[in-house]
Amino acid sequence: MRTIYCGQINTVHIGKKITVCGWVNSVRNFGNMIFIEIRDREGIVQVLFEYNNSKNIFELVSEVRNEFCVQVTGIVRSRGEKNINLKMKTGKIEILADFFKVINKSKPLPLDFHQHSKEETYLKYRYLDLRRPEFTKRLISRSKITHLIRNFMQREGFLDIETPILTKTTPEGARDYLVPSRIHKGKFYSLPQSPQLFKQLLMIGGLDRYYQIVKCFRDEDLRSDRQQEFTQIDIESSFVTSNQIRATTERLIRDIWQNIKGIELGKFPEITFHEAMRRYGSDKPDLRNPMQIIDINDLFKNSDFKLFGMKVNNIKNRTATICIPNGTKLSRKQIDEYENLIKKYGIEKLIYIKINKHEDGSIGFQGSTTKIFDKDITENIIARTNAKDGDSLIIIANSIEKTTNALGALRIKLGKDLKLSNNIFTPVWVIDFPMFTEDDKGYLCATHHPFTAPKFNCLEKLRTEPISVISNSYDLVINGYEIGSGSARIDDFTVQKAVFDILSISEHEQKIKFGFFLEALKFGTPPHAGIAFGLDRIVMLLTDTTNIRDVIAFPKTTAGSCLMTSTPAEIEPNSLLELGIQIIENKSY
Ligand code: AMO
Repeated sequence: MRTIYCGQINTVHIGKKITVCGWVNSVRNFGNMIFIEIRDREGIVQVLFEYNNSKNIFELVSEVRNEFCVQVTGIVRSRGEKNINLKMKTGKIEILADFFKVINKSKPLPLDFHQHSKEETYLKYRYLDLRRPEFTKRLISRSKITHLIRNFMQREGFLDIETPILTKTTPEGARDYLVPSRIHKGKFYSLPQSPQLFKQLLMIGGLDRYYQIVKCFRDEDLRSDRQQEFTQIDIESSFVTSNQIRATTERLIRDIWQNIKGIELGKFPEITFHEAMRRYGSDKPDLRNPMQIIDINDLFKNSDFKLFGMKVNNIKNRTATICIPNGTKLSRKQIDEYENLIKKYGIEKLIYIKINKHEDGSIGFQGSTTKIFDKDITENIIARTNAKDGDSLIIIANSIEKTTNALGALRIKLGKDLKLSNNIFTPVWVIDFPMFTEDDKGYLCATHHPFTAPKFNCLEKLRTEPISVISNSYDLVINGYEIGSGSARIDDFTVQKAVFDILSISEHEQKIKFGFFLEALKFGTPPHAGIAFGLDRIVMLLTDTTNIRDVIAFPKTTAGSCLMTSTPAEIEPNSLLELGIQIIENKSY
């Protein structure tokens, strides 16, 4: 029906007859001349209807309204110097129309494209909101990114292999979505939280290099970078080290950034989990923000000095500071706000110190804080933090965990408030996570997932001192977002069983949940490693949005519903009966 997309017409088409199809973006009627902007997925073009040129269709055109679906034929012509609109991609040309057809009329839209309507309305009429040019552009970028990924993986010899959606549980830290079986009443499939076990089985099956762009399902609380149904670029390879798989996938990410943004990311730095926590108070450090957390506990080594009643040189505590650069002066209101923030992490107070030049030319603390710290400690803190005249320090003292978490959150807030994070991309590999983390009840959980291999082969240490074992794992973080996570895998039956035991998974549960996998490990398992990237998060970063919903055509709300299709929905009692499911009304069971 069309000869070209609206947004693709330019000066090379001047003098040519073309046909476009799309939606009416705006109408300006000047009596004997009507200007209509027509929009399609590639952009907007201006069409001119002159009464003298198109008498037969003029009446029809004058009745057209926004969002009618139309077809127009005409000659492309130059707009002339004084009518050029540089804000439009097609602003140098227009179409002088001689044919017009209303394909379908439209009711007035229940939303506008300028975000003035209620949020629920945008989600209910998502298909209309998708006409918004910024949305269309994001989905076009997503499609280009997916295409680049497929090309790259194909070039590198990876096979695109699908894995089941109706399957068994895959532990990735969330709850499973369950699907009841009609044939096997009382039994359920789980939707995969990731294809983790299947990709490992593909390695045992000798497929050697696998990738898949795949939907994953996790019943977990949503955040701005998290959906229950999201897409992974899932990758696994045999006979490679974790460094090799990181090198390959680092090239993939560089390739995407180069092609989509024209940005050369360079070699990605790496930092251990421990260092990331120490310096940035986070395992997903945003390195655009130059501030670091600096330990000062040891400076109180020889003193009985107490801060907020807490002995500072106690090794179980952490006293640390963030140095705020460049003469930034925090107001009382801001300090109160920061104090409120650290309260969420169980810390009552912070010390805020301004640094200035004293009369004798030395740099020291300003005002009443001079009385809190003695001269030596003051000098040592200044030397350690490299604080300059005009800088200020925020000091917190508490348990290691609380101080780290509070300063980590404060660093992010300060970075945003003081606009310290510039508009660049800062990738970083975070490596060497602990194998296990202790939960509130003292049970050990897998920091990544239970199939992650320890960094060093140490079955004995794994059994006797599991909490101190480091895993051969890596996360890729860009601008504070975890965009990928992976590891070398356990390829030895005994080690895998030991890990299940450490995780307090009973023999019975091991058999029921992972029996098939434990069995598979006994048949000559190759060494293998892999990673999965969050495609949605990559697209978010590349399309300059901080909301994952902006890069998914049909997303869910934070409460996990789809307002357009009214999902989840109640099911007919008969369908439930067929599945052998009975709803128990009495909630007091
Ligand atoms: P993980 O659970 O870390 O690892 O997931 C890998 C990547 O997927 C993305 N991601 C999400 N994106 C949007 N919404 C979510 N709810 C969500 N959850 C995760 C993140 C994350 O880094 N099987 C392992 C990978 C492996 O070891 O190979 C796994 O799934 O970007």
